[in-house]
Parts: sequence; C-alpha cells; structure tokens
Amino acid sequence: MKFFADTADSAEIRELAETGLLDGVTTNPTLVHKAGRDFIETVREIAAICPGPVSAEVVALDHDEMMREAEVLRKIADNVAIKVPLTPAGLKTCARLTGEGTQVNVTLCFSAAQALLAAKAGATYISPFVGRHDDVGFNGMDLIADIRMIYDNYDFPTQILVASVRHPMHVVEAAKLGADVMTAPPKIIHQLFKHPLTDNGIASFLKDWQATGQSIG
Ligand code: G3P
Repeated sequence: MKFFADTADSAEIRELAETGLLDGVTTNPTLVHKAGRDFIETVREIAAICPGPVSAEVVALDHDEMMREAEVLRKIADNVAIKVPLTPAGLKTCARLTGEGTQVNVTLCFSAAQALLAAKAGATYISPFVGRHDDVGFNGMDLIADIRMIYDNYDFPTQILVASVRHPMHVVEAAKLGADVMTAPPKIIHQLFKHPLTDNGIASFLKDWQATGQSIG
C-alpha cells in the first residue's frame, strides 16, 4: 500500500520524506488555504521534495477552463498529478489528460457508481472520501470494498486512493480491503508508529541495558 501525505505544508512533507515511507502527496484548495502560501510555488517545492506523484487540484468547473488550469499545473513538474472533481466536466478532462499521458486523480468520490465512471474515464487514481462518508452515517469502508470488487471484476488499472482518512484504523481497514493508496494528514501517519507496549518495551530494555554497565562499540 502506498502512503501519500494529505497536506500542503512542505515542512511536514520534508519530515515524512525523511522516514523513507512517503510515496506521494495530495493537496486540495482547503489545504492550500491552510498553508497560506502561493499555490504554484508550494506545488513546485513539494514536487521537488517528494519524487512521487503530487496531486494539485483544478478549481474551474467547466472542461475548457479545467484544461487551461491543468496545463499550468502539469508544467510545474513531471510528477504533478492533476486532481479533478467527479463531475461530467471533470471526467471529460480526466479522459483528455490521461490520453496525453498525464496522471489524474479524480476526487470527491462518494459512490461506487462514481468510481466506475472514473475508471472508465481512465483515472490514474480514484479518491473516495471515507471520513466524510462516515460523518453522514455511512460506512466509508463499505465503499472501498465495493470499489475494490468492481475494479477487480474488470481489471481496471485505476488505483483506489483512500482519502479523508481520520484515524489509524481507517488505514488498517483500507489495507485489509486491498486499497492501493491511502492519503492521510501527517499527524495520522505519525500515529501509525504508536503503541504503548513499544514505548514500555524500550523503557524496560534500556533500564536493563544500563544495569549491565556495557556499551556497544
Ligand atoms: O484530500 C481530501 C481529503 O483527504 C479531505 O479530508 O478530513 O477534510 O474530509 P477531510
């Protein structure tokens, strides 16, 4: 399973990249607003830190304008993936960009039917939002299971990129269901390391090691 960081904060991305566990980055207009910096400069900086795909989202709602924005964004770096919304114009743009060899991340997916459309449009990634699904009383993971089944039935190469990840169990459940990628805020990726028994174990091993009076090397 690939790990993407869902942030536009380049300091956080740099820190995660140093762990060797970061495979890509996703941004969206809200995250860009939160970072408070120029969008193009931010994407350029992130794409230089992380060699994996960096999703940058168009904000236009019609196909021609989406293509114009995508043209600006994909020129930033070779590893920029264009993020488009799951609308007829978004999927038309997806098909065109895919045909031109550009990676496309279709975002704001909330149903298996939408995921099927995105795969038919040749999306590189489909982003179902599990946390927002849970927020309105559905089980986001049921959506992931349905999409996995549909994509496997037809060997669609579109990768399932689980988004709106809110806690470590979302990551574990997504992995159990065979999602290809998950994108999470850096805080959640750091939480994946945590277990109190690991901390307790380190503390007791260190105590006993000190009692031996030895050192390594
Ligand atoms: O990248 C989009 C997605 O991950 C948003 O997450 O927590 O705002 O629903 P959230």
